[in-house]
Amino acid sequence: MAYRVIQWATGAMGKAVLRTVIDHPGVELAGVYVYSDAKAGRDAGELAGRPPTGVLATRDVDEILALDADVVVHAGRIGPYGCHDEDFARILAAGKNLITINGYSHPAYWPQTRTQKLRDACEAGGATLLGAGLNPGFVAEQLAAVASGVCASVDHIQITEAADASQVRDPRYLFETLGFGADPAACDPNDPSWGPSVSLNGMYEETLAALACRLGFALDQVETDHVLHPAPADLELPAGVITAGTVSHANWRWHGIAGGRRRLTMSIHWYVETSHLDDPHPPLWAVAVTGHPGVNLTVDLVKHPDDKSRMSAEQYAVAGQVINAIPYVVAAPPGLLTRPIATPARDDYVTFTPPAG
Ligand SMILES: NC(=O)c1ccc[n+]([C@@H]2O[C@H](COP(=O)([O-])OP(=O)(O)OC[C@H]3O[C@@H](n4cnc5c(N)ncnc54)[C@H](OP(=O)(O)O)[C@@H]3O)[C@@H](O)[C@H]2O)c1
Repeated sequence: MAYRVIQWATGAMGKAVLRTVIDHPGVELAGVYVYSDAKAGRDAGELAGRPPTGVLATRDVDEILALDADVVVHAGRIGPYGCHDEDFARILAAGKNLITINGYSHPAYWPQTRTQKLRDACEAGGATLLGAGLNPGFVAEQLAAVASGVCASVDHIQITEAADASQVRDPRYLFETLGFGADPAACDPNDPSWGPSVSLNGMYEETLAALACRLGFALDQVETDHVLHPAPADLELPAGVITAGTVSHANWRWHGIAGGRRRLTMSIHWYVETSHLDDPHPPLWAVAVTGHPGVNLTVDLVKHPDDKSRMSAEQYAVAGQVINAIPYVVAAPPGLLTRPIATPARDDYVTFTPPAG
């Protein structure tokens, strides 16, 4: 039996998931929720660059929640962390398992007051919530944790990500959510009330908390030393113009503190030009474990040689993470699920039943 999937939001990531759902033999598309009027009523195949599926996109939440489906994959744009909790609670209470690509790696990090509503919704609907994705989702919660498995002791783990945001098409996401185009002299990225920090800090704090939990310690706090870099010249991008002197590269840095020292660092370079990078062709990820012994990994994702689409390997990798997580979220008891340390791709996907719990 194929898992029946509803795709919620069809931006770059949602579209990659939608394609993968249409293409994958172990899953079947049940419905598509979109935010934009222009996409409502269109066939999912058309949105995904695939033949017609007979599934039409809708903006009607009630219509979506009435569908028979095993799981909803939520790929909506992030806002202040937790801003989709109301929608999540509705989906879960309607009896749909839910995978989000916007955090929720380790909900136990948050106080009960934040998570209780989601727990209640899971209980009411007999459903499970799971975070998936690359970062958050994979590089810290799974890859770095696995890398530490050869160390008798770990002093510190740094994860460095380099993400080219120049092809982002949604101006609101690029400028408001990620802070590109802001005047570096007029904003302080280490002020937690700055818009992009409100969206990103909580999500990556939780990611570090998830890794700390895997390593057997708890974080006392997370501190930031985010840095904004200015554009050397005007830049014309699909989402709009970044003028010289405004933010063209942000190095977001979160440090997980435990026992009075930095034990974990997440350093993400989001950039639309490379003049402030040490290496103009950085790997997607570098994981540096300092310990006994240390481990250094660099990781790049590579598109399938037959794939001539404009979609990136990263977009397909998010989709792969989601697809491989579906059997786990469906098998789990109701509640907030923490990802298993590995969710490999499986040839026996269709018949595979992961252990519950
Ligand atoms: N975990 C990971 O590794 C990972 C990796 C990349 C991105 N992400 C997250 O995935 C999210 C989507 O990324 P993307 O690259 O697909 O973005 P995108 O291409 O800019 O697409 C924006 C998406 O937001 C939807 N949207 C429009 N209005 C919205 C609203 N009011 N509330 C919520 N969503 C709204 C759009 O819906 P329509 O369907 O109507 O277009 C579209 O699907 C981002 O927030 C990002 O944080 C996670």
